[in-house]
This record gives sequence, structure tokens and C-alpha cells, in this order.
Amino acid sequence: MKRSLSFLLGVFISSIVDLTKATPCTVEDTKLSGECKFMTDCPVLFAEYQKYRKMPTICDPRYRTVCCPLEITTTTTTTTQSTKRISERKCHEYGQHIFETKLVPNPVFGELPVEKRINHCAHNVVELIVGGEEAREGEFPHMALIGYSEGKPDDYQCGGSLISEEFILSAAHCSSTSKGVAKFAKLGNIKRYQNTSNSWTYIIEKRILNPNYSSRVAEDDIVLFKLNEVVKLNRFVIPICLPTTDVLTTRKAIASGWGREGFASDVSEVLMKVIIEYFSQETCNRIYSDDSKLTQNGINFDKMICAGSTNKTGDTCDGDSGKKPINKFSMNLTQTYSNVSGGPLQIFRDDVECMYTIVGITSFGSVYCGLIGIPAIYTKVFYYLDWIESIVWPSQ
Ligand SMILES: *[C@@H]1O[C@H](CO)[C@@H](O)[C@H](O)[C@H]1NC(C)=O
Ligand SMILES: *[C@@H]1O[C@H](CO)[C@@H](O)[C@H](O)[C@H]1NC(C)=O
Ligand SMILES: *[C@@H]1O[C@H](CO)[C@@H](O)[C@H](O)[C@H]1NC(C)=O
Ligand SMILES: *[C@@H]1O[C@H](CO)[C@@H](O)[C@H](O)[C@H]1NC(C)=O
Ligand SMILES: *[C@@H]1O[C@H](CO)[C@@H](O)[C@H](O)[C@H]1NC(C)=O
Repeated sequence: MKRSLSFLLGVFISSIVDLTKATPCTVEDTKLSGECKFMTDCPVLFAEYQKYRKMPTICDPRYRTVCCPLEITTTTTTTTQSTKRISERKCHEYGQHIFETKLVPNPVFGELPVEKRINHCAHNVVELIVGGEEAREGEFPHMALIGYSEGKPDDYQCGGSLISEEFILSAAHCSSTSKGVAKFAKLGNIKRYQNTSNSWTYIIEKRILNPNYSSRVAEDDIVLFKLNEVVKLNRFVIPICLPTTDVLTTRKAIASGWGREGFASDVSEVLMKVIIEYFSQETCNRIYSDDSKLTQNGINFDKMICAGSTNKTGDTCDGDSGKKPINKFSMNLTQTYSNVSGGPLQIFRDDVECMYTIVGITSFGSVYCGLIGIPAIYTKVFYYLDWIESIVWPSQ
């Protein structure tokens, strides 16, 4: 019988397996000694599967347990447990909401119902299409739409990311617009104007701007919106993980927002995603050298990320009718960057099932080009981690 990952992750008949008594086993290829565990309880095997599609040694097909190597798991769990930052611990905790536990009839006649643990991960494992495509329901469960005090609640001008049960991370320039101050946050939906049984509009109670932010310059474009109630988490509403290291493990990241393909200034009804690459400091500084919102030193790469799609350069900017032709090296850049402002730039996590890390916040770019061809500037979240943690989890 050919086994797939969904076989191992999809269903757990947990109540009839006593995992308090560890069953010893041997990992087939490495010959390391191990213990039989559920796949989700063995981060090492999980990461290997995600990276290399490596199938684990099966312990007992009836209980879907796998042989988890002993040495590696014990060292990683004991050494990191005590030193983990609060954002790291919360990331693991929030990741549990991908799973749903249901009671189902016991396959053994006459026995009590058993618990089934269902994995609702909506990620696309395959490489994303360059140029943007529609997101799936539940694929970016941290995405928020931000509405304003002088408009209707669904007069959205910006995006944001849920980072805890009470806080949304966004761009400081999204804190107030011509439509008033940020007042509403809709969560749990990929459609802009549709309300579903999973979506809910919360009231923003407080806007906490980074104290160094000034609307005159592009730096420190970061804000925390505190909601007036605790958000109920489920598989459609899950906070995104914060970055606890500065290491960019990939050269690519995924931007998501309610912008048209490539995130030009038009608005899309459905949430879009696009894969983009980091630009070199040199290229980015050359492109943005004339921008009045930047200080004389150009872009501060400690605090900012410069990223865009390199593959379709020109396509969106030069050719399309109705769009202004742009001279690549002297563009008009603006922070009222359509409705994708404030939204996340994210990467997959390989240590927590189905979760992302937010590396950037969409800050500014060209209104005409969107993300294709011309790199946009993102606030680098890692730089602000201490500030974020001190507000979101003050007692930790
Ligand atoms: C969705 O809900 C919001 C907030 O309750 C409301 O303002 C908006 O009109 C609703 N939209 C639709 C299409 O029903
Ligand atoms: C504000 O800027 C100063 C000087 O660069 C820095 O030391 C401080 O940590 C910043 N504050 C916050 C909350 O980011
Ligand atoms: C751009 O195209 C090259 C070659 O076709 C490919 O290797 C690269 O991954 C593409 N970039 C993105 C962002 O997909
Ligand atoms: C550039 O943006 C400013 C507002 O920031 C606007 O007044 C001006 O007309 C724009 N220039 C062009 C060429 O679009
Ligand atoms: C956001 O989208 C709405 C609806 O299309 C539009 O009216 C508004 O001007 C956009 N906001 C910005 C900042 O581009």
C-alpha cells in the first residue's frame, strides 16, 4: 500500500493509543534508535518531509505512528524549550488551530466514539505562479481588511496581519487616511465585500504607532492595532508567526493582498498572492534614489526590505493600456500604495506545520506598476520584534 502524507497527518485515532508508554523502534535508513510517535509530534521528521518529501519509517499503520529518532528530538526540545521567545512559543500554540478534533463513531462495533484530528492546511506546496494568483480559502488566515471611521465598515483602504488574539500588525501610514482613522478589521475571509459564516468585523480600539514614525519619511512604517475583543481562532482565523531571527532563509517570499494581478493600484475582490524576490541594496537604492521620503543615505536595510518580481519586468508598467508609461529610474512613489499597504510579506515555516512567518509589511512602491518589475519597500518586522513583544505580550 502506498502511503501519502495525508495518510499520516489526516486522521489520528488518538484515544485508543497509549502514548505514555513509548514504543522503541529503529529508523530504517539511518539506523538511529527512536520512539513511535504521531508525525505531528515529531518536528524533525515533519521538517524533512516538507523539505525533501522524505517519508518516515512507519511504526504501526493502524495508529499512524512513525519512528521518531531519539537523539535529535530530545536535544532540540530540551535545549530550545526554556530559551524560546514568547513569539516563538505563541507560534507553536497558534499553529494548533489548523487541526480540528472531532468525535466520530468507533470502527470497532460497540466501542465508544473516538477522536479524529483533522488537518485543514490550505497551503499550496507547489511553487507559486509568478505574476500572482488567487489565494485559497484559509490559505492566509492572518489576513485582515482595515476599514475607516469616516467611511462604511467595508470601505477598506489597507490590509494587516493578525499576530495575536488581540493585535493586528500593519503599516503606520494605514493608521489614518482621508477616510478617517483605522476603525474596523475584518478577519476570516478572502473576498473583500462578502461576509461569510467564518468572517467577522472587529472594532479597532487603539492604534499604537511606532514612536519613531513620521509621515514625512518612509522609515518606521509600522503600527499595532488593538481590537476591542479577543478574536476567536479557528482554521480561517489564525495569527501569523513573528520572525525571531534576522536570517532570511530564502531569497523569495510571498506577498498577499487585495490588489490586482501583480498588485498594481486596482483592487481585486479576491485575496491575491504573488511570489517575489529580494533585490540587491545597490539596485534598490538606484531605483529609489530620487524619493523624497528617503533620507540622504537611501534605504536603511536594517529596517527595510526591498523586493519585487524580477521576471516580468516591464510587462505591467510599460505595455498595458491605461497605465502610465514609467521611466524605470525616476518614478513617482507613494505610500498610498493601493489597498495592499499594510499587508504581509511572508515565508513558509519549516518547523511549525502550515504556518508562515511575517518578514515584512508592505510600505511603499509605485502605484502604477504594482509588485511586478519594480521592487516595493517593506518594513522589516524583525527589527521591531522587541517593541512588538513589549506591547502584545507585556507580562512575558
Ligand atoms: C459585512 O459586514 C460589515 C460589518 O458588519 C458590514 O458593514 C457590511 O455591509 C457587510 N457587507 C455585506 C456585503 O453584507
Ligand atoms: C527609535 O529610534 C531610536 C534611535 O534609532 C532607537 O534606539 C529606538 O529603539 C527606536 N524605538 C523604537 C520603539 O523602535
Ligand atoms: C524567474 O525565472 C527564472 C527562470 O525561468 C526562474 O528560475 C525563477 O525562479 C523565476 N523567478 C521567480 C520569482 O519565480
Ligand atoms: C507624484 O506624487 C505627488 C503626490 O505625492 C503628486 O502630487 C504628483 O502629481 C505625482 N507626479 C506624477 C508625475 O504622477
Ligand atoms: C482602495 O479601494 C477602494 C475601492 O476600490 C478605493 O475607493 C480606494 O481609493 C482604495 N484606496 C487606496 C488607498 O488606494
